[in-house]
Amino acid sequence: MNYRVPRTRKEIFETLIKGLQRLEYRGYDSAGVAIDGNNHEVKERHIQLVKKRGKVKALDEELYKQDSMDLKVEFETHFGIAHTRWATHGVPNAVNSHPQRSDKGNEFVVIHNGIITNYKDLRKFLESKGYEFESETDTETIAKLIKYVFDNRETEDITFSTLVERVIQQLEGAFALVFKSIHYPGEAVATRRGSPLLIGVRSKYKLSTEQIPILYRSCTIENAKSTCKARTRRLDSSTCLHAVGDKAVEFFFASDASAIIEHTNRVIFLEDDDIAAVADGKLSIHRVKRSASDDPSRAIQTLQMELQQIMKGNFSAFMQKEIFEQPESVFNTMRGRVNFETNTVLLGGLKDHLKEIRRCRRLIVIGCGTSYHAAVATRQVLEELTELPVMVELASDFLDRNTPVFRDDVCFFISQSGETADTLLALRYCKDRRALTVGVTNTVGSSISRETDCGVHINAGPEIGVASTKAYTSQFISLVMFGLMMSEDRISLQSRRQEIIRGLRALPELIKEVLSLDEKIHDLALELYTQRSLLVMGRGYNYATCLEGALKIKEITYMHSEGILAGELKHGPLALIDKQMPVIMLIMKDPCFAKCQNALQQVTARQGRPIILCSRDDTESSKFAYKTIELPHTVDCLQGILSVIPLQLLSFHLAVLRGYDVDFPRNLAKSVTVE
Ligand code: G6P
Repeated sequence: MNYRVPRTRKEIFETLIKGLQRLEYRGYDSAGVAIDGNNHEVKERHIQLVKKRGKVKALDEELYKQDSMDLKVEFETHFGIAHTRWATHGVPNAVNSHPQRSDKGNEFVVIHNGIITNYKDLRKFLESKGYEFESETDTETIAKLIKYVFDNRETEDITFSTLVERVIQQLEGAFALVFKSIHYPGEAVATRRGSPLLIGVRSKYKLSTEQIPILYRSCTIENAKSTCKARTRRLDSSTCLHAVGDKAVEFFFASDASAIIEHTNRVIFLEDDDIAAVADGKLSIHRVKRSASDDPSRAIQTLQMELQQIMKGNFSAFMQKEIFEQPESVFNTMRGRVNFETNTVLLGGLKDHLKEIRRCRRLIVIGCGTSYHAAVATRQVLEELTELPVMVELASDFLDRNTPVFRDDVCFFISQSGETADTLLALRYCKDRRALTVGVTNTVGSSISRETDCGVHINAGPEIGVASTKAYTSQFISLVMFGLMMSEDRISLQSRRQEIIRGLRALPELIKEVLSLDEKIHDLALELYTQRSLLVMGRGYNYATCLEGALKIKEITYMHSEGILAGELKHGPLALIDKQMPVIMLIMKDPCFAKCQNALQQVTARQGRPIILCSRDDTESSKFAYKTIELPHTVDCLQGILSVIPLQLLSFHLAVLRGYDVDFPRNLAKSVTVE
């Protein structure tokens, strides 16, 4: 963040810490801040760096412990940076956490999201020049590199953004970076490539512009001198954003809007290789090369997100809140899109591409984790409604296989965050092969939503809990809606379409009924929470529920859990069944009912004690059950939306009973922006 209004150090700390807490879902094994120091003996400003292993709360406590902090001191112009880390290179500890620094005097400090893939070569080069490293991180090479560029500058008046421009020319990999330096007090420089970065703008006064023109420069290491001149000439008030009449304006740099939404909803999304610099309260954006979008300016956009949406309310965890939000989130996904009177569906983001999609050779649906499961859950109904072959793919495996993709393929990228590195790479892979790309994301302005040709926003509202819940059900519905839109003029499918649309209409109420089973599920958790393993078995439309339920259980309870396709039971998993092993079976009144009964018999014949999730009117299955959880019935292809909720609730209660932090499972992050 960058301030150009008097702020006390206390306010600056609090803003940074609160911002970090809102971002903790992205990583939380260590955290750190760098702000201007306040050492009266040293006349010049210095940078105070505080870093701590553990969650942001630990950093907050540490900050107040340090006596050197004079919290009342006011700054006119101030720039502070903070970071919460999810370790990729180097164990989580204070030294490896960010900000990383150029030297013991903290001349340059940097925070980084992403991975620098050529960091070993850079480190070797810098070590050969005498720069000493203290951490095991890839990020430290960036801090050292900028100092190297500074130490070897040709002109004294080189700007901060020119240094950064030259640094990123040497970097390979993905990054969102924010730099601070004692040589440029109160200034901020930020840049990105492959990792998200946005700038929040807050001002009570009229702004000089709503569109910031990009300054193009042809800077290379060789012509850095002429570049500096060019910039001095071209940077005037029409190329900067500031508040009119020299009034105060504040800028916030963040990887996600949730960190800044309580200060402003006015944001600028940076594009790859944009370099944003704030100096003297003015923001300018520079580039070396034209951007992929070829847009010569960056607009200030107004976000609809509200702070309340990212607060826990009366719930004990974000995950719990998000599970209970599903009647509304599911409704919001359909709002304005499904017309229940005319039985039609209109997805505005796809309508212009519908003809092309209808002509395609096949659909490929790609995602990671829960988003992949949403693809598995809807594959059958998509095949039925689109009458096209549908491949569902885990992004990492899809890339590992160099899967053949053709220009008449249509590729869907499912991602809650819209930033998952594997999914983003798969998107670029498909784009290179000229396939039509469709994003299905929950985050406006995310990389996937911007880089795809067209798409659907699932509108589930911000999801903070690491274990995805409401995004899954909304992704599920978005894909079903797509299938319905595709089949609008298929006469033979009309009655099926109507049945599904009626089912969609009833869903919010049915979800409420399922949520009312919470206490019963809590009791079940009380019986199960000391177990080491939990199997979840089903087939057909409910197989995805087994995968997703098992994923929820392992993510937050750390129990071993497996989602098993009941059709594969006799090919291996049956060996696991005995009277001790807890097994949850999903048996719904759908075309697989009879086959699921066979599986049930095979389990009980081995003295297994199945906990059965079944339809309310199913008297047959319950006869063999150790326990039953009865669910309301809906259309077969939508049943997975109802059947996943008891497993979301079960994993939540198991994790709480086992004493774990539900929203911050160990070793995981909500948004995995590294490969
Ligand atoms: C991480 C999260 C999962 C999520 C997956 C894909 O692993 O912990 O909850 O399902 O990433 O994330 P995306 O944002 O692409 O849906």
